[in-house]
Amino acid sequence: MTAPARTWFMGPVFDGLPQTMSRFVVEFGKDGTPPAEQGRLDAPAFHRNHDAIWQALAPFLTAKAGAVLELGSGTGQHVVTFAARTPDLTWHPSDLQDSHLASIAAWRAHTGLANVAPPQRIDLADPDWTWQPGGALAAMLCINVTHISPWTVSENLIAGAARHLAPGGRLFVYGPFLRDGAHTAPSNADFDASLRARNAAWGLRDTRDLAALANETGLMLAEIIPMPANNFVLVFARREGRTATTT
Ligand SMILES: C[S@@+](CC[C@H](N)C(=O)[O-])C[C@H]1O[C@@H](n2cnc3c(N)ncnc32)[C@H](O)[C@@H]1O
Repeated sequence: MTAPARTWFMGPVFDGLPQTMSRFVVEFGKDGTPPAEQGRLDAPAFHRNHDAIWQALAPFLTAKAGAVLELGSGTGQHVVTFAARTPDLTWHPSDLQDSHLASIAAWRAHTGLANVAPPQRIDLADPDWTWQPGGALAAMLCINVTHISPWTVSENLIAGAARHLAPGGRLFVYGPFLRDGAHTAPSNADFDASLRARNAAWGLRDTRDLAALANETGLMLAEIIPMPANNFVLVFARREGRTATTT
């Protein structure tokens, strides 16, 4: 059986996106779909992937307390869904696009969850990025960002995790990846080529390169969890003896 073609921001539907959208593969809500009341945007991929992602997060997050920071939260649907399942964690969504920050705020208001903080602007292109109010994080989450951004974004994500994760904390990164130089499916290879054709700085990242980055910062790639549709959740952890330098 051949794998289904990737859709929405995951694949060929790029052809239907405005050609002016050069910095972001997707700005949710720009496909003609009207936002829900109060500006809540909907990402079709969320409906396909959130349950599988939760299965990967749950063993670590269930019954944990503390703060979780999400980078590139997009619509905000993942953060409110996961926050509803973890009342002892406070979730801090972030993004850099105004329209996404507004959608996250609207989902937060709509759900009324006390454990979701207001969205904050974090640009992973900034090597010195930090978060508010700051402090050591129980976990960080980044879904479908590393392949639609330059390599520096991955570098800054992992370096930021090394700065901000609490001892015993985890960074979870979801998306499509190469494994040791090889694509894991023909559809991923096609997707990679389409990304690089749109922007030479984008493209699927290799777990081997991300593991090397982690090693340089005092983290390690502790686990690679296969997900449906040729995606993975990569779990990064602090190596023994290394502590966070939080702001
Ligand atoms: C494909 S969307 C994924 C959104 C959301 N995580 C999801 O899975 O529905 C990629 C997101 O990354 C964000 N993004 C792109 N470049 C970024 C950067 N340099 N720093 C932070 N976020 C960025 C975009 O604004 C967008 O919300």
